[in-house]
Amino acid sequence: MQHAGTTRRLWLACALAGSLMGAGTLAAAESPTDPMARRMQACTPCHGQEGRATAEGYFPRIAGKPAGYLYAQLVHFRDGRRSNASMNGLVQHLSDDYLREIAGWFSRQDLPYPPPAAARASAAQLARGERLVREGDPARRLPACAACHGAALTGVQPAMPGLLGLPRDYIAAQIGAWKSRQRRAAAPDCMAEIAGRMNSDDIAAASAWLSTQPVPAGGRPSESPLPSMPLKCGSVP
Ligand code: HEC
Ligand code: HEC
Repeated sequence: MQHAGTTRRLWLACALAGSLMGAGTLAAAESPTDPMARRMQACTPCHGQEGRATAEGYFPRIAGKPAGYLYAQLVHFRDGRRSNASMNGLVQHLSDDYLREIAGWFSRQDLPYPPPAAARASAAQLARGERLVREGDPARRLPACAACHGAALTGVQPAMPGLLGLPRDYIAAQIGAWKSRQRRAAAPDCMAEIAGRMNSDDIAAASAWLSTQPVPAGGRPSESPLPSMPLKCGSVP
């Protein structure tokens, strides 16, 4: 995803990579006392304080997501299965163990969600989005998103991400990236399959509806395993 702020953010990411490695480029007065929290300030300019982000803009929230999911994404950015110049640069030299530690730290952050974005879509588009998310479209072999992302859409431990509390542009861009093979997950890559069955109206409707839903209390991923999934996903044990 290229946009106007890319160069500035890339610069920022390089400057912050130092603090991530423990070099302490941030002023001590601004820093929390927990050493991990201090190092993870490298992430807050984009992902928000403690990774909580906001409902607007593009940056995804990372706080409170399943650790297995976060870890997989950090490895994907490092190894080139997801491309974003800032993210690729930041994690380039980090070990599996450190990425696992980072993923665990963010997954334990339990922070309130901001209210959802205001709807900028027609009632018909929102209704179509809700139908796709909750029921899918069997005639086109599109499974319900809720069948995997959880009935409450807040994800499922240990590796299924939720779909609420994310900006509309981010959701649409991720599905688009799977369609164009710029984002990949472990094989069989169920999301690539699903994105391939979605047209641009489906993507717009689903992301519009999802981004305007309030996050149910706490927004924590479900601890109960999914009874079954409509497709196999390599990234989910
Ligand atoms: C310069 C801005 C920037 C900084 C700094 C940054 N990120 Fe990101 N991060 C992004 C963007 C943009 C994306 C979404 C990329 C995409 O479109 O795939 C992202 C995506 C992610 C994701 C995937 C989220 C998901 O839901 O799939 C994780 C995990 C992540 N970042 C962790 C981190 C961590 C940990 C740090 C600090 C070490 C960090 N980021 C610092 C911009 C940033
Ligand atoms: C068969 C199970 C399954 C179904 C059905 C499914 N997903 Fe997913 N989805 C996944 C998995 C697994 C991942 C995590 C993949 C990875 O590790 O990168 C994911 C990831 C995502 C992400 C990325 C989240 C982030 O934080 O970056 C989005 C967006 C998404 N799915 C949207 C949808 C939508 C919209 C639907 C319904 C049209 C849907 N999914 C249906 C399994 C599914």
